[in-house]
Amino acid sequence: MPEEINLEIFNADPLTEDVSDAAPEGASKPAAKQVPALDTAAESQQILSDEMTALGDAYAQALRNGAPAEIQPRLDYPPYRSSILRHPTKSLQHADPETIELYSPAFGHMDVHALESDLTIQHNGEPLGERIIVSGRVLDGDGRPVAGQLVEIWQANSSGRYIHKRDQHPAPLDPNFTGVGRCITGADGSYSFTTIKPGAYPWKNHLNAWRPAHIHFSLFGQEFTQRIVTQMYFPGDPLFALDPIYQSIVDQDARDRLVATYNHDQTKPEWALAYNWDIVLTGSKRTWTENEALGADGEQSE
Ligand SMILES: [Fe+2]
Repeated sequence: MPEEINLEIFNADPLTEDVSDAAPEGASKPAAKQVPALDTAAESQQILSDEMTALGDAYAQALRNGAPAEIQPRLDYPPYRSSILRHPTKSLQHADPETIELYSPAFGHMDVHALESDLTIQHNGEPLGERIIVSGRVLDGDGRPVAGQLVEIWQANSSGRYIHKRDQHPAPLDPNFTGVGRCITGADGSYSFTTIKPGAYPWKNHLNAWRPAHIHFSLFGQEFTQRIVTQMYFPGDPLFALDPIYQSIVDQDARDRLVATYNHDQTKPEWALAYNWDIVLTGSKRTWTENEALGADGEQSE
């Protein structure tokens, strides 16, 4: 599982002390979940939304004044409160890629089994939720397929809950769903996963903050130093406008490239809905990524 897993979860505090997944000793039923008390000291969505609107308006004005489009997220995006003190402020440390390859992870085609792309068959029973097929192609900036690419995904279950010690919000875990999968792209750059549509989840950035449903993606590249991490969203999510992580990409076209397309032709009757999402690694149409947000000159993009 990639180490960048659940950055937003990692920074979240347990919602309440009295919420636990474990049934009391000797109890025949799970303990009743309690609706967490609201943190009235937390900032409102309106405060955050006003900030995001102002930043978006300023970006739109900059575009009208001739500024170039921003195709990467802003590292310094104050509405994303938990990133204020931890976002990178300096250039990435450059390292000798050949040296890193001596001890960094590596993989071969034999290491990844075809069944690892199906997140619905990892346990004895069927996971709960809406079964979906997520597929697409990994492309370079000229539209050429990137073959032999390790694609890894991780996600919340249909209730919006991760299997992670820091995710203790009162939504159920699913004993039949772990939420991780991987595959290797084919000769045409294609990948395909069978999974469950993840739920939205709260993350305490502000009062009543919820992440839009999303699937985390990691692409390994030809070697470890090329690895990128990003997120895929689902079309029409009402939480897009409210989410500081999604909105930290201030350019609407760049945001749109993170949203999958519903594809009815690829659905399987009586079985699964289908979404398509292509990932472009380079060029002006590249997909937003989490670890390439410094400019080519090493300065932070603003
Ligand atoms: Fe997430």
